[in-house]
Amino acid sequence: MKAIVITTPGGPEVLQLQEVEDPQIKDDEVLIKVEATALNGADVYQRKGSYPLPKGTSPYPGLECSGTVISVGKNVARWKVGDEVCALLSGGGYAEKVAVPAGQVLPVPDGVSLKDAAGLPEVACTVWSTVFMTSRLSAGETFLIHGGSSGIGTFAIQIAKYYGVKVFVTAGTEEKLEFCKNLGADVCINYKTEDFVARVKEETGGKGVDVILDSIGASYLRRNIDSLNLDGRIFLLGFMGGSVVELDLKPLFAKRGTVQAAGLLSRSPENKAVIVSDVEKNVWPAITSGKVRPVISKYLPLSEAAEAHRLMESSKHIGKIVLLA
Ligand SMILES: NC(=O)c1ccc[n+]([C@@H]2O[C@H](COP(=O)([O-])OP(=O)(O)OC[C@H]3O[C@@H](n4cnc5c(N)ncnc54)[C@H](OP(=O)(O)O)[C@@H]3O)[C@@H](O)[C@H]2O)c1
Repeated sequence: MKAIVITTPGGPEVLQLQEVEDPQIKDDEVLIKVEATALNGADVYQRKGSYPLPKGTSPYPGLECSGTVISVGKNVARWKVGDEVCALLSGGGYAEKVAVPAGQVLPVPDGVSLKDAAGLPEVACTVWSTVFMTSRLSAGETFLIHGGSSGIGTFAIQIAKYYGVKVFVTAGTEEKLEFCKNLGADVCINYKTEDFVARVKEETGGKGVDVILDSIGASYLRRNIDSLNLDGRIFLLGFMGGSVVELDLKPLFAKRGTVQAAGLLSRSPENKAVIVSDVEKNVWPAITSGKVRPVISKYLPLSEAAEAHRLMESSKHIGKIVLLA
């Protein structure tokens, strides 16, 4: 088969389409003929050589895909050859075929095309496992999403609105904020021209928000704590603004606040299967109802993975970037 190979750690040009060995499935896995895969921030770190892969993971990038099942392991009962699916991967999505544990596979939701379904597993599993399963975001609460126009952000806005949450977002341009507003965001804050802490306080009568989803990290931690309501929860997904910070913990104490952090990639297949199953139960109905949809910024052929990475690093995109195999 053909796959995108990281020929050496470096810039987007190191991503090259090459002929490689087909993946072999284990008894509890299925083999998917990939229709599409979608980009994630971790793919860029992997390309640069700064993302250590868990043992046994495919060397090719790609943390999610959609496609058709072409082979099933002998312990797999749920899936059969010909099923159209999407899947949360531990790697290997930038390829014509990928092997994945059956518990990480989802049906393509009704009303979503096979190619667009590639943009759902990572955002759905990340947002659901963090702010819903862990931070217990609930109807009637307030929720601040940093990077509202990102792949994660565009999904988080929609699923939070579906569950009756008041949504605040930050983004860096008026065009991105307008897009977030059209997706349902209630309060849109340009972090380049406004102080998000002051705006959050103003919009919440001085209280602050109940939950914050943040991938900026160190440079935002103090301001995130200042933006929290009593019993507020901060979930950290990434460290685009650094990972080292020194701060006074008293404000966190005064707010009875929680700061939690986790990623999907390092979780065991069993743990991923629990999340995937909860996503199918709680998120898939929101998608089939038409109230939550994949937001795709651009489709490119797999052979243009380098161009797709350039677009992602430019931050000009809104939502997901999809590669067609
Ligand atoms: N822990 C996990 O399991 C997990 C899973 C998936 C993703 N992530 C992380 O979540 C983040 C988003 O991922 P993604 O795939 O959705 O990435 P993405 O689509 O590339 O989005 C990154 C976004 O960050 C925004 N941004 C950068 N600096 C900002 C700031 N100071 N304030 C507000 N927004 C800022 C950019 O928009 P602007 O132009 O508005 O700045 C851009 O939209 C990444 O850091 C990624 O590594 C973590």
